[in-house]
Amino acid sequence: MTTPVLDLGSAWWGLVPAAGAGRRVGAAIPKQYLELGGAVVIDLTLATLLDHPRVQGVVVALDPNDGHWPHTRYAAHPRVWTAVGGAERCHSVLNALAVLAGKAADDDWVLVHDAARPCLRRSDLDRLMSVLADDPVGGLLGIPVRDTMKQAGLDGHIQATVPRDGLWHAFTPQAFRLGVLRRALGAALTAGHWVTDDASAVELLGLRPLLIEGHADNLKITRPEDIPLARFFLQQQGRTC
Ligand code: C5P
Repeated sequence: MTTPVLDLGSAWWGLVPAAGAGRRVGAAIPKQYLELGGAVVIDLTLATLLDHPRVQGVVVALDPNDGHWPHTRYAAHPRVWTAVGGAERCHSVLNALAVLAGKAADDDWVLVHDAARPCLRRSDLDRLMSVLADDPVGGLLGIPVRDTMKQAGLDGHIQATVPRDGLWHAFTPQAFRLGVLRRALGAALTAGHWVTDDASAVELLGLRPLLIEGHADNLKITRPEDIPLARFFLQQQGRTC
C-alpha cells in the first residue's frame, strides 16, 4: 500500500529520550536495548521516525555511561546525532533540544518520542503530523481512559473516584515547535517543575496542546509483563519474527 503524500508544512525532526535506566522492567540492561523478536527496542523506535520521508533527522539523548548504543543499528547513521542525557526525562529532552537547535529552525516541528515505545504505528505518526501541520501550539498522541479511575490515599484506600470523562492517557510522540518547547521546558525547570512529559511544560506556558487519538499498542515498556505484549504487537504489525 502506498502512503499518501501529506502536506506537512515546515521541517520535522525526531528527538528520542533514551537515557533512562528503566529499572521497573527488572532486566539486566536498560529496556531500550532489550531484544524483541530479533530486533532491538531502540532500533525499532528509531526506524519509525527515520523511515518517515518528512523527518529530517533524530537526536537521541543517552546516558553518559551508555555502552550499548554504539552497537545499535543507527549509532553511525548520518541523520542521527546524540546528546547527553540528564537526571530526569525533562533534562534529557532539554539537552537534546540544545543539540537540535544547531541544525533546525525555531519554527521547525520536533517529535519527542520515548525510546521505550517501539510499537508506534506509522499510521498514527502520519495522523499526528497531518493533524498538527497548521496548529499554532502542537499536541500529542494518546487514548481516552477506559477504566474507572480511583484516587488513592496514603494508606492505599480509595479517597475519591475521579470522573473519567475527558481523561486521557498521554503517549508520545508529542510534537511542538522547537522554539516553543525549548522555552517551555527551560521555564518549567527553572521554576522547579520536573515535568514528566513535554506537553506539561507547554501547558505551564498557558497553552493548550491538542490530544490526538492513537492506538493502545503504542505502549511504553515499563514493567516485565510489557515485554511479551510489545513482542506480540510487533508481530501483529509484521515488524518482527
Ligand atoms: O522512565 P520512563 O519510562 O518514564 O522514561 C521515558 C523515556 O525517557 C525513556 O525512553 C527513557 O529512556 C527516557 N529517559 C531519559 N532520561 C532520563 C529518564 C528517562 O531520556 N533521565
